Amino acid sequence: MSRIVTMSGSVRQGSLNTTLINAAGDLAVAAGHDVDALDLGSFALPLYDGDFETNHGIPAGATELADRIRQADAILIASPEYNGGPSGLLKNTIDWITRVEMTVLAEKPVGLLAASPGGNGGSHGIGVMTSIFSYMSLALHGEAFSLPKAYEKLEDGALNAEETARLGTWLDGVLAPLA
Ligand SMILES: Cc1cc2nc3c(=O)[nH]c(=O)nc-3n(C[C@H](O)[C@H](O)[C@H](O)COP(=O)(O)O)c2cc1C
Repeated sequence: MSRIVTMSGSVRQGSLNTTLINAAGDLAVAAGHDVDALDLGSFALPLYDGDFETNHGIPAGATELADRIRQADAILIASPEYNGGPSGLLKNTIDWITRVEMTVLAEKPVGLLAASPGGNGGSHGIGVMTSIFSYMSLALHGEAFSLPKAYEKLEDGALNAEETARLGTWLDGVLAPLA
């Protein structure tokens, strides 16, 4: 059995990206994996600042995040697109994790996802995340999962059956290296 860590770059109530990552997590559980759904809002990470690190050290939340990621076999990351890039919450979290250990995210399959109310499905944000994570030499799955017009793809607040099936096929590809 493999362990999958999931994270959403939005902590907004009713977040489309959290809905999407939770749907992916549910599919991973149904496929027999353990899922550790990280709530990035719960780790109390300040905005990264070198003076803060010098004066206070690395926050306990960053160390805990790194520990939980270290235990994972694969990582799924969803983020909203804010002005063409991923959320500040996600980027700040990644920056802190790398201060604990630069390579903790490396050598695990990583799948990127994005949901947006508009028609582009967060594709610019996906592009920037791809650039950042490629720079960090992460084992990115070739194609990200994009969910455009996301509110139209929900049924009773959850991903509809058609998109869940599409997500399942994508997830099979991301997790194939674990088989
Ligand atoms: C500051 C800000 C910038 C945004 N920029 C974009 C953008 O560049 N492209 C886009 O498709 N949506 C953009 N949006 C809309 C978000 O995609 C939308 O609010 C989305 O629902 C946020 O994700 P969430 O539902 O997971 O919280 C922006 C929203 C905010 C608040």
